[in-house]
Amino acid sequence: MNHFQLKDGVLHADEIPLPRLAEAYGTPLFVYSTATLKRHWKVLDRSLKGLKHLVCYAIKANSNLAILRTFAELGSGFDIVSGGELYRVLQAGGQAKKVVYSGVGKRDDEIAFALEAGVKVLDVESAAELARVSIVARRLGKRAPIALRVNPAVDPKTHPYIATGLKESKFGVSMEDALRLYTLAARDPALEVKGVALHIGSQITETGPFTEAIRRTLELVGALRGQGIRIGHFDVGGGLGIQYRDEAPPHPDEYGAAVKQALASFDGEVLLEPGRVLVGNAGVLVTQVLYTKRNGRRNFVVVDAAMTDLVRPAFYGAHHEIEPVVPVEDAKPVVADVVGPVCESSDFLGKKRALPPLEPGDLLCVRSAGAYGFAMSSNYNTRTRAAEVLVEGDEALLARRRETLQDLVRGESPSPRPRRFTK
Ligand code: LLP
Repeated sequence: MNHFQLKDGVLHADEIPLPRLAEAYGTPLFVYSTATLKRHWKVLDRSLKGLKHLVCYAIKANSNLAILRTFAELGSGFDIVSGGELYRVLQAGGQAKKVVYSGVGKRDDEIAFALEAGVKVLDVESAAELARVSIVARRLGKRAPIALRVNPAVDPKTHPYIATGLKESKFGVSMEDALRLYTLAARDPALEVKGVALHIGSQITETGPFTEAIRRTLELVGALRGQGIRIGHFDVGGGLGIQYRDEAPPHPDEYGAAVKQALASFDGEVLLEPGRVLVGNAGVLVTQVLYTKRNGRRNFVVVDAAMTDLVRPAFYGAHHEIEPVVPVEDAKPVVADVVGPVCESSDFLGKKRALPPLEPGDLLCVRSAGAYGFAMSSNYNTRTRAAEVLVEGDEALLARRRETLQDLVRGESPSPRPRRFTK
């Protein structure tokens, strides 16, 4: 269930017809449903009821401040991967003490920012990073709360670009290395061992890989306990998939029950880092048809959204449902590729889609665009990035205004002549 439904023959976001939003804010336009966002967060939170836990929204999926604020007001924690993301969380009123800082390449200034802000934990991904965190913490006269992100070498059975827990991925440390690094960390007065973390990949549509990864990591937790190192929290990462087309991912309740069962013997706090499952189906991308054309035997619908707005089809061959905002009954469908204006052959939103005959000005709705949509958008071809709107009931908020041409050149120098270099 989501809040983008047909009413009186027109797709609505909650109670507002999408054409009215498109008219007010222009296209391409990301539209998010606050009710869906809240419901998704609450369902996931409830799925771990009875367990001491914290849902830490992975903001890389969609880092719009209004969305972060929506989750912060529900008591959410946040999973971040850069100083920029920490800045966003703080701007949105999120609490640093509920922030998990993941990521394989933290810079010194980012580590310092996180320690000064007082994040809950830094998930460390290598021996070299552990040493850097220790140095920066000492320099600041602080004790850095750390967890190691282990790589449980489990196949999440997803797209290779978003599988992260395989033995040969760049993420995490192996179980063997983890044992050694925890021992080092426990002896370092600048470090405080808080927990253990894992994240095996994204868009995972069965519970098996999660529970297997947890099982393997619990063995490490047991071994550490044997050495007197207590693991206070267990972060199971994110990765729960959603339905884009005909996938049948487990319901959050099923996922939560599986996590609970797998962690039954663990007596600390459980952290989750969901991204996609919270925001993916809470957002759509509304785009306008510019032209239709035919080349050879192929039909094209050229729209005003592009890979710069939603790169997932180009990048992963991902499928997003595309439907007319005002469906035409009994129309004989035309099979066409829905493509954007960018000068790349990979600039498509959908291939071989059966759509009613379309005219310039018609609106299309690209589904499941709330996660890794705007967040992965770019200015390639010097295109302004889309506006983002949040809808609740019959109310709308412009959560990010459309970029202007001035935004596009901000920070650039129009002078081509270098000056004397004095630094
Ligand atoms: N935690 C960590 C450490 C992560 O790296 C990620 C995602 C998450 C949590 C959230 O995962 P989720 O629940 O959203 O699956 N751009 C790709 C997805 C990349 C995911 C990267 N890491 C896509 O559009 O499919």
